Amino acid sequence: MNFRKLAAAALTLAAATYSAAAQEYPARPITLIVPFAAGGPTDVISRIIGDHMSKTLGQQLVIENAVGAGGTTGSTRAKRANPDGYTIIMGHLGTHAASVALYPNLAYNPSTDFEPIGLVAGTPIVILARKDFPAKDLKEFAAYVKANEAKINMAHAGVGSVSFTTCLLLNSIMGVKPTSVPFNGTGPAMNALVGSQVDYMCDQIVNVVSQITGGAIKGYAIATPERNAALKDVPTTTEAGMKEFQASAWNALFAPKDTPKPIVDKITAALDKALDDELTRKRLLELGSDIPNGPRRGQAALATLVSSEIAKWSPVIKAAGVSAN
Ligand code: MLT
Repeated sequence: MNFRKLAAAALTLAAATYSAAAQEYPARPITLIVPFAAGGPTDVISRIIGDHMSKTLGQQLVIENAVGAGGTTGSTRAKRANPDGYTIIMGHLGTHAASVALYPNLAYNPSTDFEPIGLVAGTPIVILARKDFPAKDLKEFAAYVKANEAKINMAHAGVGSVSFTTCLLLNSIMGVKPTSVPFNGTGPAMNALVGSQVDYMCDQIVNVVSQITGGAIKGYAIATPERNAALKDVPTTTEAGMKEFQASAWNALFAPKDTPKPIVDKITAALDKALDDELTRKRLLELGSDIPNGPRRGQAALATLVSSEIAKWSPVIKAAGVSAN
């Protein structure tokens, strides 16, 4: 058999193996990397959406909390994973947009090292403080932080996280650079805030609703144009006199680059079904999430979102003069 025939046979075999793998996918559980600690917003959103996706795919999405470096450790792990559809990641505004400007030597490029699966949930940002913080509203909060900057501690989930990035914008508006206290996620950071071990934090709404409504922490304002049905009594930043602070994060699923398209399509379809499932929607909505509708769903829309968010947050980060290394 000459070389050309051998090559053609090899290609045919490879194509057959490729499509067979895609056809039988998933044949075993799928690892869903959550690059932050359990109990935080990214973890909670992953478990809610993963519950329903597991049913559709017929295999368990097994969450692995791979923490550190503001979510970039887990994201690097996902980038390097075998592109076979058995490792995916829940990334977000921090790991797949802000980190580009925060880490000059970032080990991955969010736009080219991943196959976008789809946007899962938008998560408006809420300005939080410990329950005994001596300010009755956002104006008094900003004044107190400014006057006591030297002794104020702000919690976040590491350089590159949503809580770090969005509070960077808040701090530049208030003209302060407080001591910042990093955690492996805003799950543990929230415990510190509830325990009054830190003073304030910017966090995604899905992590804060029960703490605010239960009086365990204070929620001064939500950084979106409209109030959120899950936190009806929390004013918008515009109502509270700080309209320039507008910030809404998002969590989205990605696969490593070169994961076969038929496999990515299967995962995107399962995500789409989960976002249309009544119970899944109810669980996400009662936590204040913004569930994407048709045009915001899917692979192309997520690719566009990633590049637009990199463009949006890079100047904010550069203006704050902050970088991780
Ligand atoms: C988390 O799940 O802990 C958050 O997404 C961390 C963050 O980005 O603030």
